[in-house]
Amino acid sequence: MKILVLNGPNLNLLGKREPEIYGSQTFEEYFEELQQQFPEHELRYAQSNIEGELVNLIHEVGFDYEGIVFNAGAYTHTSIALADAIAAVPTAVVEVHISNVHAREAFRHHSYLSPVCQGVMAGFGLYGYKMAIDYITTLY
Ligand code: DQA
Repeated sequence: MKILVLNGPNLNLLGKREPEIYGSQTFEEYFEELQQQFPEHELRYAQSNIEGELVNLIHEVGFDYEGIVFNAGAYTHTSIALADAIAAVPTAVVEVHISNVHAREAFRHHSYLSPVCQGVMAGFGLYGYKMAIDYITTLY
């Protein structure tokens, strides 16, 4: 099964960025753990700070891969273009947030992506990515 783990803006700074909220592990380190946890699946990792590049990645894999685990960062709260891209492709998309966005500022409570995703993981730290992959593997 092919699954894209996709991170949006500022998530390249994981490990250095507000570690009290997002933890001190880099995503590259965590991704290696994920690959060890799912050796039977083909996991690919991509990150971009650019909204259009995220749209292009969703188009690229969305008719081919079995799933996308997507942390869109702040674009979650702003991007109709990403919501439209997710709605346009048949692959299952799971929305992930490291922090519990509902326990934070009000502007983080609304997601344009949740209505077009299969489900949402928020507040479980990096473990949320693993749970999202676990879920996708149950679909096929
Ligand atoms: C985030 C939550 C967003 O509100 C924020 O803009 C991020 C990270 C999270 O993983 O908790 O960049 O998606």
